[in-house]
Amino acid sequence: MLEASCVCVLLLLFFWGLLLAAVAVSGGGGDDKFVYSGFAGATNLTLHGAAMVTPGGLLQLTDGAAVSKGHAFHPTLLHLRGGGKEAAAAAVRSFSASFVFGIVPVAPGMGGHGLALVVAPSRDLSTGTASSYLGFLNSTSNGSARSHIVAVELDTIQSPEFQDMDDNHVGVDVNSLVSVNSSTAGYYDDRTGEFRNLILVSGEATQAWVDYDGEAKRIDVTLAPVGTKKPRKPLVSASADLSTVITDVSYVGFSAATGKLRTRHYVLGCSFAVDEPAPAIDMARLPGLPHASSKSKLKAALAMALPLVAGVVAVATVACVLLLVRRRYRYVELREDWEIEFGAQRLSYKELSRATDGFKKKNLLGTGGFGAVFKGVLPTSGTEVAVKRVAHGSRQGMKEFVAEVATIGRLRHRNLVQLLGYCRLKDELLLAYDYMPNGSVESHLYGGGGGGKPALSWAQRFRIIKGVASGLLYLHEEWEQVVVHRDVKASNILLDGEMNARLGDFGLARLHDRGAELHTTVVAGTFGYIAPELALTGRASPLTDVFAFGAFLLEVATGRRPVEEAMDGSSSRRFMLVDWVFEHWRNESLAEVVDPRIQGDYDVGELSLALRVGLLCSHPLASVRPGMRQVMQYLAGDAPLPELAPTTQGMSMLSLLQNQGFDSSVVMVSSSSSSVSLDTCLSGGR
Ligand SMILES: *[C@@H]1O[C@H](CO)[C@@H](O)[C@H](O)[C@H]1NC(C)=O
Ligand SMILES: *[C@@H]1O[C@H](CO)[C@@H](O)[C@H](O)[C@H]1NC(C)=O
Ligand SMILES: *[C@@H]1O[C@H](CO)[C@@H](O)[C@H](O)[C@H]1NC(C)=O
Ligand SMILES: *[C@@H]1O[C@H](CO)[C@@H](O)[C@H](O)[C@H]1NC(C)=O
Repeated sequence: MLEASCVCVLLLLFFWGLLLAAVAVSGGGGDDKFVYSGFAGATNLTLHGAAMVTPGGLLQLTDGAAVSKGHAFHPTLLHLRGGGKEAAAAAVRSFSASFVFGIVPVAPGMGGHGLALVVAPSRDLSTGTASSYLGFLNSTSNGSARSHIVAVELDTIQSPEFQDMDDNHVGVDVNSLVSVNSSTAGYYDDRTGEFRNLILVSGEATQAWVDYDGEAKRIDVTLAPVGTKKPRKPLVSASADLSTVITDVSYVGFSAATGKLRTRHYVLGCSFAVDEPAPAIDMARLPGLPHASSKSKLKAALAMALPLVAGVVAVATVACVLLLVRRRYRYVELREDWEIEFGAQRLSYKELSRATDGFKKKNLLGTGGFGAVFKGVLPTSGTEVAVKRVAHGSRQGMKEFVAEVATIGRLRHRNLVQLLGYCRLKDELLLAYDYMPNGSVESHLYGGGGGGKPALSWAQRFRIIKGVASGLLYLHEEWEQVVVHRDVKASNILLDGEMNARLGDFGLARLHDRGAELHTTVVAGTFGYIAPELALTGRASPLTDVFAFGAFLLEVATGRRPVEEAMDGSSSRRFMLVDWVFEHWRNESLAEVVDPRIQGDYDVGELSLALRVGLLCSHPLASVRPGMRQVMQYLAGDAPLPELAPTTQGMSMLSLLQNQGFDSSVVMVSSSSSSVSLDTCLSGGR
């Protein structure tokens, strides 16, 4: 009897214990211990940026927009220092976190930039930068001991500035995006000890564990497909003494960011505890992830069928290798999974080689800043094409570049040179465009009398100006994304069979979402067309395109280059077209700047209008420049042009640039115009 009641009491105690544990766990708010098995009802999370909890209970950190970021924090303060069982007050206690995440790219297999678990001194990471900073650091806080941030990054883009090992890795970050240690994503199978790869952007739910051992001062990170027991061997270990990093006030949360590749980052559930393993997440209660697309299912099906055909594949591979080795290695066409998306725009090397007679010299149209251009005729359709061969250093950045190429291929406008398709080789990219029989505006402006192209009449020039404005308006405002061209100049504006102007060479264009921060670190463009703020900050925007358009407009009307260098004995003199036109405008002698080749044969009203619009667009202050829609209205005479006030425009471009130490050699990207000799410049312009 006594024994039975003892058993009863023990059982009762046991069940009470279970109940209490369950409450602590499901409450989500136990001081330093919590578990979210799904986020439905987690109304107290601190959310920022694109982060939100979906109606289905998923924590969605980014929403599929480009260059976006999202943060989510558990609302309560953690007690990670001293106290508890630790004697030393300064020491950081052991802690563990586990979470289930899913990275679902908009285009299958192509996702960026990544997701991170962070322990930070504040729940406000709004100063973090998107893209490669994963939303939790920026260029000043990266590498600074004052950041007090520990993070575990699940990174899907290889960022060379942070010495990333590949585009699918897990890293331990302490105050810096250069990881203390990192590893390709995967896990060690408990039974065989073998390493198994995991693809972070697979769109599949994956579990991660992060364990900090306060005594050994080591962080272990472990990954496994969801539903698999935590592997015994961690994926990556990093020695890190967090006692100088983690502050008395600290919070745990997630940060995720996208770059140009559109991705949705999700957390399905997470848990955390101090001085003990993170509580188990209830897998049965986790919400489901949305699927990337049917293509990924197809891929999964293929993957399952793969072992069956492995033998066949092996034989085929050997045959292929033998075939390929016979060709020169550099002509091996590269084609990877992620390119399936762009299938329609892939052209074969064979097709392009046949189109251009094997890239014979006689078909060479010219050599631009980015590579040689050949004329050709596509064998299948008979379409005339211009094939540009662009050299590229490595596979690095290729995914993003091809994503851009694919987007550019979808742009359609009568004033843009249509991109027909591309082909990718080991270190070259071939781009096929519509062939433009009348060459570039530059060749007509400076072709010279002899064998060059005929000079353009004013009527043709004015049509070209309006055409370029219309093309830019489409890029800036009328397409689904804001596209900044970045390299508007006379040699990039081509003329089709009907002498319509078409903007070409989107090689430098970068895509941005409307409203997203436009950023870049390298100033690209051509000297004379680069707006002052672009030279200073490296930030291209629609208004820097407007500046270049203004320079182009003045160039077309005057027949002179935006900047000319002339040597006067030992000193060099710089001619700034904007300043020159402006001086003449102020002296009311605008007729003197008109290109001599159209003297006496132009509409005075149109020309004066064009010059004034050109001056307005070339204004050193971006805020004074009009948008392309306004420019179109001015040129059409539908809106009155604002008065050019000498006081506002009066700042000399030349002195502005010189004051700022602007040096042409630093920012100039080699361009075809730089190959034209000084003599041609001057005689053409005179
Ligand atoms: C959310 O926070 C409020 C006030 O801080 C608190 O009263 C409430 O219990 C919290 N709810 C949950 C679900 O933690
Ligand atoms: C970078 O982050 C730090 C810390 O949050 C902030 O003080 C700083 O203003 C940020 N810098 C930039 C350039 O955003
Ligand atoms: C970030 O900080 C690390 C130092 O931790 C430094 O090596 C790296 O160059 C920095 N990267 C950038 C892009 O600032
Ligand atoms: C990095 O992690 C690996 C895998 O856990 C481990 O073998 C290696 O020793 C670690 N390197 C450092 C410097 O901690």
